[in-house]
Amino acid sequence: MENLLKEALDALHKAADKTELQEIYNTYLSKKGKVAGLMAQMKDLIAEEKPKFGAKVNVLKQTLEQAYSEAQERIHQQSILSNLEKDKIDLTLPATKLKVGTLHPLTLVQKEIEEHFIAMGYLVKEGPEVERDYYNFERANIPQDHPARDMQDTFYINMDWLLRTHTTAIQTRTLEEYNGKTPVKVICPGKVYRKDDDDATHSHQFVQIEGLVVGEKISLADLKGTLELLAKRMFGESRVIRFRPSYFQFTEPSVEVDVSCHICNGKGCSTCHQTGWIEILGAGMVHPNVLRMAGFDAEKVSGFAFGLGVERVALLKYGIDDIRHLYTNDLRFLSTFTRFE
Ligand code: DAH
Repeated sequence: MENLLKEALDALHKAADKTELQEIYNTYLSKKGKVAGLMAQMKDLIAEEKPKFGAKVNVLKQTLEQAYSEAQERIHQQSILSNLEKDKIDLTLPATKLKVGTLHPLTLVQKEIEEHFIAMGYLVKEGPEVERDYYNFERANIPQDHPARDMQDTFYINMDWLLRTHTTAIQTRTLEEYNGKTPVKVICPGKVYRKDDDDATHSHQFVQIEGLVVGEKISLADLKGTLELLAKRMFGESRVIRFRPSYFQFTEPSVEVDVSCHICNGKGCSTCHQTGWIEILGAGMVHPNVLRMAGFDAEKVSGFAFGLGVERVALLKYGIDDIRHLYTNDLRFLSTFTRFE
């Protein structure tokens, strides 16, 4: 019995993994194991010796079971440690650099303007780039054969369909959707197309953002306050704006809006052509005809609208000297813009 105990304890101490442990269990502690074998010998003993023998075998069994569960615990701990060792990562290794794209400057400007207006309760409205002549011109108070149509060299698809020349087409669609209901407070970003020859300042495809507010007692003063806030947001707190009289078919009165030059602070430099002012957009009070065509009572409600060129703002804001940089997708240029959401 003593030999058996020594032999089994020895094996348990040496056991290195679960399989070895299981074998030891089978050999000594299982139903057909050596300890059970000892128990079986009891029947051959004389009656007086049975209790003594039985007690001894029991002590042996308990000792072995105790040692077995200790060995089990030791092997379990060892396997945790060895797994940790295997899965160890070297945090000092230099990581593989992931190439993450960043937002395009036009997207940046558009996003910033959208954020600005959304914070003031405006909705963002979009419309189709392939547009009906009706929404692009007719509803904007530019009837058939009006000479103003020539000013916007239009890509026509057929007599009725064209590539929209301005986001004013989204304005007229929005007014139709509201059908006389106020307040209307939207901005409408989108691509527009004109038959221009591409050069440093022209592109046959560009991005505009239209603004439109219709309600009771909306005045030119509201327009001015709105655009001044926008100018400050885009070009800095100390910017001011000025209105110059202009003409658009869909607004009356119409204005051209200049912002004080953010480069020279209005003193005069090459960016502002020595004038101290930079033209950024066209705007005005929505023409009563435009309101009436969309079911609004032009006696009771009024509105302002503006149309801004996103490329122009991007060129000015980021000091880019050629509009074509925005379309040639040179990564050396694009990767200088680092915002990604
Ligand atoms: N649609 C004009 C253009 O593309 C821009 C514009 C001017 C839009 C005045 C307006 C506006 O909404 O009120 O040149």
